[in-house]
Amino acid sequence: METKTVGVLGAGTMGHGIAQILVRSGYTVLLHDLSQEFLEAGVGRIGKGLNRDVEKGRLTAEECQKALGRLKATTRVSDLGEANFIVEAVTENFEVKAGAIRAIEPYSRPEVIFASNTSSISITRLAAITERPDRFVGLHFFNPVPVMKLVEVVPGLATCQETIEAAERLATSAGKTPVRVNDGPGFVSNRLLMPMINEAVYCLMESVAEAKGIDDVMKLGMNHPMGPLELADLIGLDVCLDIMKVLYESFRDSKYRPCPLLEKMVNAGRLGRKTGRGFYEYPQGRSG
Ligand code: CAA
Repeated sequence: METKTVGVLGAGTMGHGIAQILVRSGYTVLLHDLSQEFLEAGVGRIGKGLNRDVEKGRLTAEECQKALGRLKATTRVSDLGEANFIVEAVTENFEVKAGAIRAIEPYSRPEVIFASNTSSISITRLAAITERPDRFVGLHFFNPVPVMKLVEVVPGLATCQETIEAAERLATSAGKTPVRVNDGPGFVSNRLLMPMINEAVYCLMESVAEAKGIDDVMKLGMNHPMGPLELADLIGLDVCLDIMKVLYESFRDSKYRPCPLLEKMVNAGRLGRKTGRGFYEYPQGRSG
């Protein structure tokens, strides 16, 4: 079965980014969010992103208009019934994701493939709430979605080969490089990335260096494009904390203990770029 119409659940940072690369690659996208305000903001950001491609000569004005014409935004989950592939990118919380998947399933075609953009929740566990765990797969994109090449493709215990291949084809046709990884806590990306970020927060808490010093070490010494604390601000400190908790609870190993300063920052509402303050301040910063 060829995927032509993709439903995207959630118009936030990841959802609108995924929708943007898919309409740009020729797919019809049915973008859903419960909130009209979020939906409008997501559509606005997609328009801005595609117009930037026009300004940079990567897309013609006509292609941009066509791509925008393939985007349909809706707050009604029943409107996603036409999709033959659905990617959920709602809040990183099991109950929220389970609720979104349960809401859409009765309206879905029998052959639809469900993908979750979760960054840490078990795909096997999410798949088990559906009637079709063989047609459920992890499709983990990276922020900013239009820029980052990687997509982790994560089969759950019951995911069938056909589903994995359809997910890989979707990622490739949207200009991404799929890398298949098994359904272990944090997959590969966050099992490596989050302990590094967490350790950077420990360095800050223990006054090993200032935030800028810690970031400069990794940028200048290891050629990372961003330091770990800047990156934490981009990802969202709440998201980093949630992922550390998943690692800690899954492995029951103290090496994954979330840094108390990370918890304190989240409790204070300093979540990074999206709240204007994290390890750095962003008076009018891009929310990512
Ligand atoms: N949204 C869309 N596009 C963005 C963007 C954003 N938030 N931030 C930057 N860009 C685009 C810019 O528009 C620019 O594109 P143009 O060709 O149109 O100019 C391009 O990216 C380069 O941007 P800049 O020149 O402003 O800055 P830069 O060269 O320093 O690159 C960066 C910015 C791409 C974000 C780079 O710093 C980088 O790669 N950082 C690391 C990002 C990263 O590691 N992401 C993964 C996070 S982990 C995750 O997402 C998964 C998870 O589960 C937590």
